[in-house]
Amino acid sequence: MGRKALCEIPPMGWNSWNTFTENISEDLIKQTVDAMKEQGLLEAGYEYVVIDDCWSLRERDSEGRLVADPEKFPNGMKALADYVHEKGFKFGMYSCCGTRTCAGYPGSFEHEFEDAAQFAEWGVDYLKYDNCYKPQNHDGKTLYRRMGIALANSGRDIVFSACQWGTDSVYDWIGSSGAHLFRSTGDINDSWNSIRDIAHSQLDKQAFSGAYCHNDMDMLVVGMYGKGGNSYISAGGCTDEEYQTHFSLWAMMNSPLMIGCDVRNLTDATKKILMNQDLIAINQDKECRAPFLCSENPESFVLVKFLSNGDIAVGMFNMGDTAAGVAVNFWDIGLNAGSGRGLEFYDCIEHQNLGIKKEIFSSTVAAHGSKIYRCKVVSVK
Ligand code: GAL
Repeated sequence: MGRKALCEIPPMGWNSWNTFTENISEDLIKQTVDAMKEQGLLEAGYEYVVIDDCWSLRERDSEGRLVADPEKFPNGMKALADYVHEKGFKFGMYSCCGTRTCAGYPGSFEHEFEDAAQFAEWGVDYLKYDNCYKPQNHDGKTLYRRMGIALANSGRDIVFSACQWGTDSVYDWIGSSGAHLFRSTGDINDSWNSIRDIAHSQLDKQAFSGAYCHNDMDMLVVGMYGKGGNSYISAGGCTDEEYQTHFSLWAMMNSPLMIGCDVRNLTDATKKILMNQDLIAINQDKECRAPFLCSENPESFVLVKFLSNGDIAVGMFNMGDTAAGVAVNFWDIGLNAGSGRGLEFYDCIEHQNLGIKKEIFSSTVAAHGSKIYRCKVVSVK
């Protein structure tokens, strides 16, 4: 029996990099798992706990194996994986397609099958696979295919998270490489400009993402408030309104939702954003339909996504520095007036019903703000 099809819908979880960079340890991961469980994040859907770069020793052992840093992980990775699994989560780790990881630890180049076997033995369920130190004359396409084959034949169900940064024309080949998700941009940081630029850069790439191979717009910075693991990531932080817009964008654009803040200290505002079940339901919709642009102005745009039960999600985004009126014309969605149908609007951030609208709907959206509606198609005759 082969393995089962994996990762139909965008994965959700937590990743250590944004807040902790190299300062990771068994204690931190256990505390994170405990906090996620206690606060209801697992129940909300955040199931993968992923250790990013800097977990291993600087060199492989004499038999060529990767070795967990005994100071950071004194009981080794198998024991930690067991702990994560006992608490009901899935366990993720990190490697790189080149000779070194981005932080200079051993990469998996020419060790793909041994490393995949090692990860499987430890109980790894998810591998983030970075793009640094690629040997000359090797393009991303074949290096990611190599690990795709190795993981799919490792004897364990391991989600393959390609961290490819959108290089090497990744959109053209990633779907066939075995990857279940692919990073499409450079690294996010905790600033409004970073969120805005990533979103803008992916607006015309939505059709490349779909069930079983998701466009990963990078880990969330929601709730970090300027406390990144290095000066690049910190970047000053964002307001809660901006974090909400970030989450609304990632939810509407079908990105994986990987929390990047310290979950041991969540503010109420952060919890409200991360645990918004109405937005999570849009992100996790089974059919993974790509959202489409319905109107685009220099500072604002409207994204529309068809959901599997016939509902239609409408997201209004104002990237500008002052409040703006944003409108969606139902004709552009595909709902002409002659159909005798309108839309019943439910506000997924305020959690309230706004009633039935005909032909056009407009709303004032705050500076750097967003509105997300789940709409039912109803008769208006
Ligand atoms: C980058 C990657 C980040 C993080 C970092 C670790 O290349 O995009 O998400 O994994 O490497 O060194």
